[in-house]
Amino acid sequence: MKSVFFGAVSAAALIASAVHAEPQAEVLHWWTSGGEAKSVAVLQEEFASKGGTWTDMPVAGGGGDAAMTALRARVLSGNAPTAVQLKGPAIQEWYEEGVLADISSVAEAQGWADVLPASIAGHMKCEGTWCAAPVNVHRVDWIWANADVLEANGIEMPTTWDEFNAAAEKLAAAGVIPLAHGGQAWQDATVFEAVALGILGPDGFRKAFVDLDMDTLKSDEMKAVFDQMRTMRGYVDENFSGRDWNLATAMVMNGEAAFQIMGDWAKGEFMAAGKVPGEDFLCASVPGDGFLYNVDSFAMFTVDGDDKKAGQDLLAELIVGQNFQKVFNLNKGSIPARIDVPLDEFDSCAHLSAKDMSESSDNGSLLPSYAHGMALRGAQSGAITDVVTAHFNSDMSSDEAVNMLADAVANSM
Ligand code: BGC
Repeated sequence: MKSVFFGAVSAAALIASAVHAEPQAEVLHWWTSGGEAKSVAVLQEEFASKGGTWTDMPVAGGGGDAAMTALRARVLSGNAPTAVQLKGPAIQEWYEEGVLADISSVAEAQGWADVLPASIAGHMKCEGTWCAAPVNVHRVDWIWANADVLEANGIEMPTTWDEFNAAAEKLAAAGVIPLAHGGQAWQDATVFEAVALGILGPDGFRKAFVDLDMDTLKSDEMKAVFDQMRTMRGYVDENFSGRDWNLATAMVMNGEAAFQIMGDWAKGEFMAAGKVPGEDFLCASVPGDGFLYNVDSFAMFTVDGDDKKAGQDLLAELIVGQNFQKVFNLNKGSIPARIDVPLDEFDSCAHLSAKDMSESSDNGSLLPSYAHGMALRGAQSGAITDVVTAHFNSDMSSDEAVNMLADAVANSM
């Protein structure tokens, strides 16, 4: 009797302590630029207002490569962070390692399946369970421009790559840096995939970077993509090597450079600096059809302690919450992942993004970004990026580049 009695008490006590555990979360992310920091602060504030204690683990480095290295070290040492900015197939890769927590109870209680598009929900699932919470939809295939610089030089936003090149030549002759770029592998890959979408078209892009079709990887069209990269290498300034993406955005802001090809986290930088779309800066999708999406999300890692588990549940709930999805994305430059967040407070670039995303979803040209880890597993996307960056930083011919690309992909499988 006695042991049954004590057993019952301790179970009740356990439940009580789980219910009253104060939510704790150590959060690993790579949002350290001006616009990014403003955005993640929205989550920190909402978490604190619900009684949570947030331990920040920012790992600087655009695109998240450094953050992913830090994550691996933490998990290998048996000390995973509570919540991690993680996206695309990397979510399933970590799930297969057996280290992700199941957040299905929150997802089901909050009805995520009803408010997320199926294409996004698919990325958040691991063998039928919910294993990540989506924050936004970033579009990758954008050109940003300084409005005054274009006007002063009599240039319209380019609608073909030939127009882009003609504009760049004119700007260079006028002493303006045509293309603001940071020579880091992930930024080279970002420009490359935007050019590839334009030149290969949505079907060709899918064959190359989703299906890894060898004929497409070695095709004349892919050679044309590398040709255009070689041309664009001539439009960046000589100090581009190693430059952070947000410093490249600043060059467009201050008129030193005319264009940047970058995802709409760049818009977060313009907005954080008080710049107005349509007046100070312009946005347009890169020449060609299609939409490259990049969905940020958070995955929860298996941790001990009711306080951390309470933190994971609270974070998951807040992240997909309607208010957070609005305020965060107003700052971040992206659009909400939820389909039921009104966009009336969003700017014209966000409206264009939402319209193009819906049209491209209907006509089959909504595509995952390879450069931002949405299309391929790490080994394959890494193999492609190695070739892209080796080509951009040397005098390698387009013929050599496509052969190297096909070999690298074949060897990564
Ligand atoms: C992320 C964005 C981030 C950008 C630059 C992308 O991969 O999805 O959220 O702002 O990298 O760091």
